[in-house]
Amino acid sequence: MRTQVAIIGGGPSGLLLSQILNQAGVETVVLERATREHVLGRIRAGVLESGTVATLRAAGLGDRLDREGFYHEGCFLTDGDLSIPIELDKLTGRGVTVYGQTEVTRDLYEAQDAMGTTIVHGVEDVVIQEATGTAPFVEYTLKGARHRLDCDYVAGCDGFHGVSRKTIPEDKRQEFERVYPFGWLGVLSKTPPVSHEVMYSNSPRGFGLCSMRNAELSRYYIQVPVGTDPNAWSDDQFWEELSLRLPKETADRLVTGPSVEKSVAPLRSFVSEPLRWGRLFLVGDAAHIVPPTGAKGLNLAVSDVYYLSEALIDALKSGNETGIDGYSDRALNRIWKAMRFSWSMTTMLHQFEGESPFEAQMRRATLNHLSRSETARKDLAENYIGLPY
Ligand code: FAD
Ligand code: PHB
Repeated sequence: MRTQVAIIGGGPSGLLLSQILNQAGVETVVLERATREHVLGRIRAGVLESGTVATLRAAGLGDRLDREGFYHEGCFLTDGDLSIPIELDKLTGRGVTVYGQTEVTRDLYEAQDAMGTTIVHGVEDVVIQEATGTAPFVEYTLKGARHRLDCDYVAGCDGFHGVSRKTIPEDKRQEFERVYPFGWLGVLSKTPPVSHEVMYSNSPRGFGLCSMRNAELSRYYIQVPVGTDPNAWSDDQFWEELSLRLPKETADRLVTGPSVEKSVAPLRSFVSEPLRWGRLFLVGDAAHIVPPTGAKGLNLAVSDVYYLSEALIDALKSGNETGIDGYSDRALNRIWKAMRFSWSMTTMLHQFEGESPFEAQMRRATLNHLSRSETARKDLAENYIGLPY
């Protein structure tokens, strides 16, 4: 097989890149390890920046998003019974849209099917060859047979555990990492959300988050020690612990019910630089991970795709390689600012095991300051709604 851009990974990064390139008349083949059902079964991100929404609309994915996505003018931070409204729209002129990553991925698959693009599921043992030459190719196994895909460029969109990043020799990349000593236990439940806005809560028992997918479907998270088994938590235990981390007035309104999904996600900050090795480009979680406290992971994947698609279209349509030469620096510039924001939100809202009482006071002082200072809230809002591309 031959194509212009071989895309490793059919998550949101890979599918969106394929969508934008094909719209511009650039051919792609997506190689995905899992089944479509598996990719669609992953419950992950929920909050889309306005830049993400604009990029999705421009890629022809706006219909259901505009119908079913919920525009949020603000969000809340809380500390004990102190509630701090962050009026995103009033402070910045923009808000965010709550629309699940599962829905984004579903829309992408449907749009790709309509365009008749090639997405190969169930590939194994993917190997990227000759990335620094002029004729790269990708080898993979499908149903026991080995295949070869020749291409002009390879896009590594295969997430944190994929093969693309590891294809770059260790002495050609630099990794920056912070692993946090806790994870998030997440529950999806068919109950009305407790708050009409997303709520991030600091408490002496740890962090809690109230989010939603729609008027009848809620998503909640609590901070738990690293290595926690989600099945070790009964639904009742989860609801009780979440309630203890919310302002009393919110906890009193919490509607509980059976969980329809329960999982634990570890928290990590990670960047691998640069995002390019010859004709191989890293995109999304393959290159960087943020703790979900700033709701930035999927949004960063979309801005990477935006930059890379522009660069590849220029290179393949007009032979202009300035864009691909600048891709890594351009994307990293935005990535590092989102790294900083996600780390600061995580530090401001989580308990760190073994921390001194001083740390807890610093968190409370930061939240207290936010509650009194519009300047501080505006800075948070500017980052939360997403920095410009
Ligand atoms: P992935 O979604 O990881 O996709 C990579 C794909 O590559 C997968 O389908 C995988 O099966 C495939 N693959 C892997 N290895 C191979 C291989 N060797 N060969 C072929 N295919 C391979 N982000 C936000 O912006 N807002 C939020 O509110 C938010 N909340 C989150 C909450 C949680 C609990 C979690 C866990 C994450 C959250 N995120 C959020 C982050 C967001 O989900 C990720 O950043 C996003 O999924 C990245 O997309 P991706 O396509 O780059 O990677
Ligand atoms: C979610 O709804 O899953 C969600 C919302 C906000 C975050 C992270 C996750 O910061």
